Amino acid sequence: MKVTPLSNALGAEVTGLDLRQPLGDIAVTAIKDAFDQHIVVVFREQELSEEDQLRAAGYFGKVHIRRKPATTRDPGGQFDTPFMLVTNIIENGKSVGVFGDGEMWFHHDTSYYPKPHRATLLYSMKLPSWGGNTCFSNMYKAYENIPQPLRDKLERKKVLQVHDYKRRERLDLDKIDLDSVRHYEQPIFITHPATGRKALYISRLMSARILGLSRDESDAALEQLFEISEDPAIVYEHEWKLGDLVIWDNWCSIHARKDFPREEPRLMRRLTIEGQAMRF
Ligand code: OGA
Ligand code: MN
Repeated sequence: MKVTPLSNALGAEVTGLDLRQPLGDIAVTAIKDAFDQHIVVVFREQELSEEDQLRAAGYFGKVHIRRKPATTRDPGGQFDTPFMLVTNIIENGKSVGVFGDGEMWFHHDTSYYPKPHRATLLYSMKLPSWGGNTCFSNMYKAYENIPQPLRDKLERKKVLQVHDYKRRERLDLDKIDLDSVRHYEQPIFITHPATGRKALYISRLMSARILGLSRDESDAALEQLFEISEDPAIVYEHEWKLGDLVIWDNWCSIHARKDFPREEPRLMRRLTIEGQAMRF
């Protein structure tokens, strides 16, 4: 097997592995090291059954099983299975999965959980004729790029992360009933539990308010952080091909999806790896 970096921002492609076969210890250690180092790891030309994808996910930790939330709105998609379909395909008037069509702003997955997921694995099964690229931003680098005065001001502050099921719209706390959507207060700068490195932990889609600042101060600081976190210099854009399996470190990266034709089906099979609490 070989690990080849994909950009200056983050990402590496692993070649020479067929994930239909169980991997030996040496290969597993190598892909986990590549994952810790490169944040996003891409395996191309894979022909994976559900079982194969599940086995591959298991190398990175405990696979999460989705449960229907008891108290908040139904997010859609499948429950009581580890698999979720990310798709715009509609059958009998109902989406067969989640996240619909078109653009999706930068976000972490499950930053609104007490224990955000460690990683997400997305496997491409149907792709539109153009668009639908997924962009990944390196949040270690984002942290390093914050001007020192702003960093000092935000040190040990928390940010309210909210998931209101929108994909390309700023949160408006005046309109949201927080009890009906999942939300959680997270450190704005986390120490990555696996690497020990500091990372910025905000996103345009899900970060609503910095706690302990006035509303205006919070809005201004967040806008500045969104710009830093979406700087093209720290972003890798993945152009999907059929059979790509992409895994991303969900603690030190955010991701966004670009637009694609809504009348063309796009279908991805998704698994996530359980995480742990984020700490300063
Ligand atoms: C996800 C996600 C983006 C995409 O699965 O969490 O954000 O490109 N997907 O479909
Ligand atoms: Mn996502």
